Amino acid sequence: MVATTPPTIRSIAPDEVDRFLAAFSLVFASEPTEHQLRRAERRLDPDRSFVAVARDEVVATGGAYPFDLALPGVTPVPCAGVTLISVRPDHRRRGLLTRLLRNIHDQARERGEPFAALWASESPIYGRFGYGPAIPTLELEARRAHVRFAVPAPVQDVVLVDTAVARRALPPIREAVRAHRPGLLSRSEAWWDTLLDDDPVAERDGAGQRCHALVPGRGYALYRIAPSWTDGVPDGTVRVRELHATDPEAAAALWAFVTDLDLTSRIVAGSRPVDDPVLAMIEDTARLTVTQGWPLYLRLLDLPAALTARRYAADGQLVLEVSDAHLPDNAGRWELTVEGGVATCRRRDRAPSLSLDTRELATVVLGGVRVSQLAAAGRIGVHDTDAVARFDTMLATPLAPWHEGMF
Ligand SMILES: CC(C)(COP(=O)(O)OP(=O)(O)OC[C@H]1O[C@@H](n2cnc3c(N)ncnc32)[C@H](O)[C@@H]1OP(=O)(O)O)[C@@H](O)C(=O)NCCC(=O)NCCS
Repeated sequence: MVATTPPTIRSIAPDEVDRFLAAFSLVFASEPTEHQLRRAERRLDPDRSFVAVARDEVVATGGAYPFDLALPGVTPVPCAGVTLISVRPDHRRRGLLTRLLRNIHDQARERGEPFAALWASESPIYGRFGYGPAIPTLELEARRAHVRFAVPAPVQDVVLVDTAVARRALPPIREAVRAHRPGLLSRSEAWWDTLLDDDPVAERDGAGQRCHALVPGRGYALYRIAPSWTDGVPDGTVRVRELHATDPEAAAALWAFVTDLDLTSRIVAGSRPVDDPVLAMIEDTARLTVTQGWPLYLRLLDLPAALTARRYAADGQLVLEVSDAHLPDNAGRWELTVEGGVATCRRRDRAPSLSLDTRELATVVLGGVRVSQLAAAGRIGVHDTDAVARFDTMLATPLAPWHEGMF
């Protein structure tokens, strides 16, 4: 057998973005359009995009976007948005993902990012690397004929606007929502530019043009209609991509608008928060189809920085015994003390209240999944029975954490 040199991992040069994206597309069996390639190029930071190279061929890719993460009660904190992970089939299971993540994590820690986040193509992949499904989401589907609002919605407040107006109007609304909704990641100006760009037909997946419904200063919905006719009867589907509102009336107006569009009979909305008010707006919710959506996975890159970054709902103290196979700095016993909603976290060799892996800590850290649920599933070791309820009360948030944009 001929000994082979392991692939080298390095960040890419600015002129290698196409090569990076071509290698990723091969693994995902995707055929990006020229427009999609240029969009990806505008979002990518070559410095934060890594390739594994073997015999001058790119055999694996992975990178990170510099986001910030909305947390309960404070200004958002930096968060590495891990993305574009791919390993060519002939190089799988030789540790390349492990090496790529090590590079991505090391770089993020050097940049002072206490959290990393990602969307997982398959749920079993990232737990071993310390990622937990911290932000569950819902997929909603409704028949237009079954949608009745319990409270009348001021639908007359909604106007359709063009791309130029939307580009100015939408970002401040989403930022206002982010001030109260943990989990939402920031969007750079370039990100907004590429989200609201020229909307090529080839990327609409059979639907019509992107529509921007606005309640000025208070809310917006991005949607498309996929037209269809059954036996001569219009039977289109409204695909709601994003709907944000800063107050209940604006939310009701937007939902009423997108659920009562002519030529449609069905409405689908993905990546909604688990406490979406629309679930209580509609009278006959039994007729809604609600399924589990893609969660956002989080990882603590710097445990004390991550645990002290947020505000807490209740004061209390506990000692957490944490394991972390990939970032040993996080492992050990930590005393978390919350006073006046503000946390301190320090190493403390006291009897632990709870023992858990860093993945479980990441799962509960934003309050989107309850400690009691993981304890009941046997995923957290409980040494002090009161600690489970205490930690849940401390971690609770007025609004469930949410993240809506795959990256
Ligand atoms: C998923 C993928 C990135 C894994 O890369 P890889 O280089 O084979 O991973 P590694 O060799 O570093 O594997 C590390 C560990 O994860 C496990 N693992 C890797 N992929 C897995 C999967 N899909 N399901 C379950 N376990 C997986 C390996 O078995 C290995 O476990 P071990 O340490 O107990 O041996 C690669 O298979 C791939 O590119 N798949 C298609 C694209 C994709 O899904 N990308 C992820 C986008 S979010």
